[in-house]
Amino acid sequence: MARRTTSEEILAELGAEDDGLLTRSIGPWTLEKLAVLLLYIRGFADACKKAGGGFYVDGLAGPGLCEVRNAQVEPRFVLGSPLIALNTPGLQHRVFMEMGEREEATLRQRAEPFGDRVTVRRGDVNRDLPALIRETVPERAPCFCLLDPEAAELHWNTISEIARTPARRKKPELLILFPLEMSIVRQFPTGGPLELGAMERHNRTFGNSRWQAIYERRLSGQLTPAEAKSDYLELYKDGLDQLGYRHVFTKPVLAPPTPTQGRQERYHLVFATDDDTGDKIMRYVFERGYVLGLISGGQKELGI
Ligand SMILES: C[S@@+](CC[C@H](N)C(=O)[O-])C[C@H]1O[C@@H](n2cnc3c(N)ncnc32)[C@H](O)[C@@H]1O
Repeated sequence: MARRTTSEEILAELGAEDDGLLTRSIGPWTLEKLAVLLLYIRGFADACKKAGGGFYVDGLAGPGLCEVRNAQVEPRFVLGSPLIALNTPGLQHRVFMEMGEREEATLRQRAEPFGDRVTVRRGDVNRDLPALIRETVPERAPCFCLLDPEAAELHWNTISEIARTPARRKKPELLILFPLEMSIVRQFPTGGPLELGAMERHNRTFGNSRWQAIYERRLSGQLTPAEAKSDYLELYKDGLDQLGYRHVFTKPVLAPPTPTQGRQERYHLVFATDDDTGDKIMRYVFERGYVLGLISGGQKELGI
């Protein structure tokens, strides 16, 4: 059996040089998301060898390189999801979409040395990504798609359209950042009515209005905050089940402790696949321990 990659090794692999171009500022907890991607994408690329290689799709790609805020130890600069994919051998092609003008131009520059193994497109994930997948990913090719919003930019209809791409043999595998604590629960006031804009955003995020029943039970005290959060997450997972995914599971990502607080959940990674090998690899990647954010926050606690 292959030896487990340690947290220190993962950090070293994520580490990058500053190239002087635009970077994305990240909190140390983001290292865990990047580590999950780094480990999974390798397994995906290996598993797709027989099929001639897999396709990686990144719908909200960012500029490519990240800078860790308040990094107290190395590395300060780390590969973002597109550069992780570009540096993964064995993938057949990478498809990146980014809406920001500067981010997309910077990503294009960083992707340039990789020639025709990559497609970079400026566009809106909700309006343009499903069509870009139909255009660039062959129907029979294995496809792994990362959807990594900062807040509530990602609409359910987009996920549904990607999953239901006509004529595809298997639905694309999805790794979605579900911003439950970062964005969603913050838009549920516990006193006073919910504004119309927030209602529309929640409807777009969940693809239905079933979240309202959870919110009402929380308001009337029938659910604790933790129970309400768990129900919102279940509702989101249920949406992926309804799309027909055979394996759907999640992982919470936590911030390092502060002087006043223990570790708090920041968001949840949600994975959906029809593939038994993908299921097995991601379960391992989700369940293993990471101490990356703690290292970066200056609290060296290795051994996991
Ligand atoms: C959380 S960041 C992605 C970070 C990236 N996955 C990484 O690891 O470096 C989200 C990115 O999505 C872009 N974005 C926001 N709304 C978008 C949309 N509707 N369509 C495409 N990109 C969008 C933002 O400009 C930002 O660069």
